Amino acid sequence: MNWLITGGAGYIGSHVVYETLRSGRDVIVLDDLSSGIKSRLPDGIPFEEVTLTDRDAVFAVFDRHKISGVLHLAAKKQVGESILHPDYYWEENVVGLQNLVDAMAANNVANFVFSSSAAVYGQPDLKFDDLVDEAANCAPINPYGETKLEGENISEKCAANSDFSVAALRYFNVAGAGKPELGDQSIFNLVPIVFETLDRGDRPKVFGNDYPTPDGSCIRDYVHVQDLAEAHVAAMEFVENSGAIFMPINIGTGTGSSVFEVIDKISQVTGSTMEPVSAARRNGDPAALVANVSRAKEMLNWSSKRTLDDIAKSAWEAWQFNRK
Ligand code: UFG
Repeated sequence: MNWLITGGAGYIGSHVVYETLRSGRDVIVLDDLSSGIKSRLPDGIPFEEVTLTDRDAVFAVFDRHKISGVLHLAAKKQVGESILHPDYYWEENVVGLQNLVDAMAANNVANFVFSSSAAVYGQPDLKFDDLVDEAANCAPINPYGETKLEGENISEKCAANSDFSVAALRYFNVAGAGKPELGDQSIFNLVPIVFETLDRGDRPKVFGNDYPTPDGSCIRDYVHVQDLAEAHVAAMEFVENSGAIFMPINIGTGTGSSVFEVIDKISQVTGSTMEPVSAARRNGDPAALVANVSRAKEMLNWSSKRTLDDIAKSAWEAWQFNRK
């Protein structure tokens, strides 16, 4: 099987590329290198530097390669930026996806794994120990989440009208590194933000300490990027062996960690003695968002193996490697 991996030079995408190759499948990477880094990829891999908003260029990729499935990771993913530039996010994430699925349909490619996000759930009114399952109401609260939900809706129509077999993976909070050179080099999420803050000699900030959770800080489901990559291979197998279907699937661990717990774990791993400092709540943060992962187990026979400790250690190793 030949899988086209869009966004394959990115932090998550590159982990997925290596895991797909390890599964015995062939890979073609498409990436516009706006945030991807080509040197993350193994030598000799077919590579297309193409932006998905260039419809003709996307169709031309399907002329040049025999493709049997598409893993679609390429997207803009910063919530704050999406609020400032909603039209840009729509163009990149929705128009780009539409071009891709149109090219798939025109070439009779029906296997589709889509990188969705827990952002589709918005701010569900859950108690700190409730889990969110895929049947929950989808009500995104920012343009980024809206583009992911629209991507799911378009994919679902492709399943109904063009017999696509779709797994929409709703990622929870992805962190860690499978190997140091593949680490997350951006500083947009809690783990890298804390590293960067400690590097500066500052105290990590906790956005809100009065949420209805045991320690007052927000709870999230942190999933190791290597586990996530393995989930993609399981999802490829699932769509390869399914008929027309649309299946949203939570990809998390089923266990929540609070911001204080994550910072504490990072302190253990880095040896930092900096105490966290409480700051104002950040707009739009749900108190808790933790995945019910039974569907992933049932449909993909996948569950996460790695712990928060593995996440912190591997992320710290990668952070140091990339800052050398
Ligand atoms: N946080 C802090 N201090 C910081 C940075 C973050 O307390 O310096 C807190 C946030 O308020 C939040 C938690 O750490 O409670 C995690 O924040 P992130 O920004 O790392 O992640 P989010 O949960 O906000 O968002 C992540 C992805 C989104 C995705 C969402 C889906 O970044 O792309 O999960 O749930 F949409």
